[in-house]
Amino acid sequence: MLRLVVPLLILLSLTMSVGWSAPGDIHIAIETKRTALVILVDKDQNPTVVHVGPKLDRADEYAKISGNGKRGEDYTGLYNSAYTPAGSRNLLEPAIQVTHADGNPSLDLRYVRHERKPVGEGIVETTVFLKDPQYPFEVELHYKAYLLEDVIEQWSVIRHTEKNSVVLHKYASANLYIPAQHYYLTHFHGDWAQEMNPVEEPLTEGLKVLDTKLGTRADLFQPPSFLVALNQPAEEDKGEVVAGTLAWSGNYQIAFEVDPLHNLRLMAGINPYASAYTLAPGKEFATPAFLYTYSNTGKGTASRNLHRWARKFRIPQGEGNRLTLLNNWEATYFDFNEEKLTELFKDGKKLGVDLFLLDDGWFGNKYPRNNDRAALGDWQENVKKLPHGLGYLVKQAEEAGIKFGIWVEPEMVSPKSELYEKHADWVLKLPNRQEYYFRNQLVLDLTNPKVQDFVYGVVDDIMTKNPTLSYIKWDCNAVIYNAFSATNPNPSHLYVDYVRGLYKVMERLRTKYPALPMMLCSGGGGRVDYGALRYFTEFWPSDNTDGLERVFIQWNYSYFFPAIATCNHVTDWGKQPIKFRTDVAMMGKIGYDIVVSKLDEKELEFSQQALKTYDQIKDVVWHGDLFRLVSPYEADLASLMYVNDAKDKAVWFSYLIKNRYRAGSVAPIRLKGLDPARNYAIRELNVYPGTKSAINATPQVYSGNYLMTIGFNPTVDTRRTSVVLELSESK
Ligand code: DGJ
Repeated sequence: MLRLVVPLLILLSLTMSVGWSAPGDIHIAIETKRTALVILVDKDQNPTVVHVGPKLDRADEYAKISGNGKRGEDYTGLYNSAYTPAGSRNLLEPAIQVTHADGNPSLDLRYVRHERKPVGEGIVETTVFLKDPQYPFEVELHYKAYLLEDVIEQWSVIRHTEKNSVVLHKYASANLYIPAQHYYLTHFHGDWAQEMNPVEEPLTEGLKVLDTKLGTRADLFQPPSFLVALNQPAEEDKGEVVAGTLAWSGNYQIAFEVDPLHNLRLMAGINPYASAYTLAPGKEFATPAFLYTYSNTGKGTASRNLHRWARKFRIPQGEGNRLTLLNNWEATYFDFNEEKLTELFKDGKKLGVDLFLLDDGWFGNKYPRNNDRAALGDWQENVKKLPHGLGYLVKQAEEAGIKFGIWVEPEMVSPKSELYEKHADWVLKLPNRQEYYFRNQLVLDLTNPKVQDFVYGVVDDIMTKNPTLSYIKWDCNAVIYNAFSATNPNPSHLYVDYVRGLYKVMERLRTKYPALPMMLCSGGGGRVDYGALRYFTEFWPSDNTDGLERVFIQWNYSYFFPAIATCNHVTDWGKQPIKFRTDVAMMGKIGYDIVVSKLDEKELEFSQQALKTYDQIKDVVWHGDLFRLVSPYEADLASLMYVNDAKDKAVWFSYLIKNRYRAGSVAPIRLKGLDPARNYAIRELNVYPGTKSAINATPQVYSGNYLMTIGFNPTVDTRRTSVVLELSESK
């Protein structure tokens, strides 16, 4: 079916590439299966955005869209520019600002032509070519439409052939224009162990800016992902929502401007802060991509669009497999040796995970890594802790029956390290300033190709020496202070070139090790974005693994990132019982960071059984659609479910998140995403040893129609604080 639908969609979209237009006007409709972004080019060749929303039934009618609800006088005709140039007649926040080679600080961009071509199964790319009428300065606006997923990936390419270099002061990836009566922005903020706190606020006239200036950790304080609801606050299954995220791991800026006509302008891209970029003639500057999806059926659809897109097109092995693991970080911290680790391998096997992950602390000799104050950069096994080297550990793990993976943090350097002593010029710092440390460390200068080789070599050496090593956890615990490179001739290129350098390294690693599972970690969830997730199979959302906290943290990441990429570990954080922590961790890629030998008999039995159960349900969680049912921000509980594509299996998770008298699921909860015509048998999973499930005592079979109309009560209360139910089609 899919095979038929996709070519048909491509054909439809190609046939409407020119469309008919009013005299002098050109309408460029960038369509997906359900949505459209329409650019109108007027008779003066100004490109403007005149529609972001549902696709029209009749493509020829796009040509009837004109000023599009601008609701009044636009002094410049540029309020809704498809890429607002600064310095000539613009009055609002620009998308691009440059100084030409002759010192002229203005830019005008007029339409030249556009082209459209299929660039993959279900993907059509439209490119709009713009040019300054006075200067040989061009911008290409690229729009990749993912047809079935309703996602658009947008970026710009800037080039010129002026006599000398041009300085780019601002160079956004995307510039949208969305008219509505009211706008409600949901953005997120956080810090270490408290990632992804949502705030929903109405946007009023003027600018609201989301940004980061941390250099390396775009997600830490203010993630580059947001939702904008139109006309009414965002609802799960109702209303118009645009979900957007910038695919960039460094400094970003997303600006929302409600203009004098009360329309919403949006500019998303690299942060112009301290980042003027000098572009030589004949060279190109390609911005990172801004990804967005429009839904008129609420946040739920928007999330599922992004999840499907990410699994299919972005995350390595996004539709494939993942490894469960036992991590030793919280079990040992820096205090381990070969004997201890060998015991932990056996524990991992006993528990039933696929892999053992050796965390921080395995390296450094002159300055051993026995705490976080030394050795980053000295990636040789510590001979006291690991006298027989990594190869021995890999073998020991394999003999114990599990795979072996390892933690690295190769972008960083400890001031107390041999690397720092040898290569002080490889470190980002200012010679005449005090060094500032974030977690006692500094950042290496990834703009320097020699440093890129070194960082690449850290992982490549480990993999070359240990070809069966099966997992890399890549950490990044510092921000950039004293942002200066000793070797980069353009100081203001540093922030941009850093991320580009990082991506070059990742690209090389992915080319050589295409199937290697890699976790994106950044002192918890300091770096979670679709720029880095092009290379990483999964990400670490937070060091906070308290089950209760994780319900919220994972809930918020789930707006943008799919479960298969979300690493959830069962640890000793928090006060919730092991069942609660395990149930929460199952809503993604489960792992453990506990001392298995300290589990009591029942806890061990429960965990072993949970991993077997996970094997049976992981396909639905990893590859199915997520439906959020009850928000922990609105009720005593959180409830969400995953449904597979065939709609014959679903897994439903519910958690008590408040403890007040009679708190719990007092009424049935309506399910979503099922086939109304089929029958489903409900069975409780993860029943704790020694307890009984009333749900499992009698057969529970209901039609999808019943479950989605009347619902079912999972009976979550203070005695049953977390409940996992499986729904299987019953014929
Ligand atoms: C921060 C990570 O988030 C932790 O999981 C752990 O790997 C430590 N770094 C190790 O230093």
